[in-house]
Amino acid sequence: MRSQELEVALRPRLTLNAAVGSYLIPDLPTADEILPYLRRIDSARWYSNFGPLVSEFEGRLQALISARDDPNPQAGRVCLTALATGHQALEIGLRLLGIEGGKRVLLPAVTFSACPLAVLQTGAQPVLADVDPRSWTLTPRIAREAASRTEIDAIMPVAAYGVPLLTPEWDDFSRDTGIPVLIDAAAAIETQGLPRRGLVAHSLHATKPFGIGEGGILAGREAEMIAKGRQYANFGMIDRITRTMGTNAKMSEYHAATGLAQMDRWTDVKRRRRQLLALYIDHAKILFGSVTLQPSIEEAIPSSLMLRLHEPIADAVLAAGKRAGIGLHRTYLPPLYRHPCFANLVVVNSAGSVLLPGADIVQKELHMTNSETLFGHLLGVPFHPFMSEADVINVVEWLRTQVAA
Ligand SMILES: Cc1ncc(COP(=O)(O)O)c(C=O)c1O
Repeated sequence: MRSQELEVALRPRLTLNAAVGSYLIPDLPTADEILPYLRRIDSARWYSNFGPLVSEFEGRLQALISARDDPNPQAGRVCLTALATGHQALEIGLRLLGIEGGKRVLLPAVTFSACPLAVLQTGAQPVLADVDPRSWTLTPRIAREAASRTEIDAIMPVAAYGVPLLTPEWDDFSRDTGIPVLIDAAAAIETQGLPRRGLVAHSLHATKPFGIGEGGILAGREAEMIAKGRQYANFGMIDRITRTMGTNAKMSEYHAATGLAQMDRWTDVKRRRRQLLALYIDHAKILFGSVTLQPSIEEAIPSSLMLRLHEPIADAVLAAGKRAGIGLHRTYLPPLYRHPCFANLVVVNSAGSVLLPGADIVQKELHMTNSETLFGHLLGVPFHPFMSEADVINVVEWLRTQVAA
């Protein structure tokens, strides 16, 4: 890498602006766009507990996801419920799959903390799997290796950085092993297919492609199971009597109002995100040889863009970006076993070999080689729809000064 002095010398040539100083700016509806829906709340005076706006929002989401769904009638219908957060969609999804104290859930070591926290909330133990070096996530092959060597009761694969997972592969996995699957497709709404077995959770957090502030979706094909999820989200109640364990994870009418306004502009939101991705793919060509884009990123409606630097200098470039006013980031890094809260979890490498709690970080570094490699190499660039082509060129040109051999 170039020296710090050289980087400082290059800085005046760049015309950086506020757009590249932020790595993410949410693309949510304006107050005016939400207002007609808020007026409907005023008229109905219904604010939460499965109100008309939540029902309409669920119906429109169901139509959106069904439009891309497996046309084979044997696949079954798409059923879903809107929830307060994506994190709660994960927790409730796990409970619906029978996860509770004493069970173990395999999930990738490179993902957001919500994944292991949702497992811990059920009383079960997360088991952190090393990721596949190509797709940067937990694959059915790694899950099979892990399940053949250690007790695993459910899998939570993650559509890393919004790139959807192949559902037939996960259907084959759960058919062959009998282990249920909950796909965390937090940032892959609409693009993530719904498996024939198992469940899918989405996040509607402001930072996600379909942002509404806070919100989550739990989808599956068994209407009865989704109805149980809805019951769990409302204190386990039916007719005001608590029949099972539960929590309050309901979506309010205000969030549904934002969701409906976001649905009205979804076609434009998607177009803007895909246009920006196309600009990056085009201009980043000058970096090829020093940088690789996330495989299959063109299948996503991206809310972030990660690059794999060919040298393990991601932290150094992040720091240089800070000095140069470029908003870089390292989302989902460091790997979860490096977070103090998850340091005592069992980890499994890509060959299924288990490292028990108590292993120190040096042992984990040697064991979780793919996650560690990503830790050294992955870097996120500014990605939001308020960037112009000139902004993309500025970011790419600046990166060239950092990564060029
Ligand atoms: C992979 C992943 N899973 C789960 C979540 C949790 O979603 P929420 O913030 O809606 O609770 C996030 C949020 O960023 C995420 O990135």
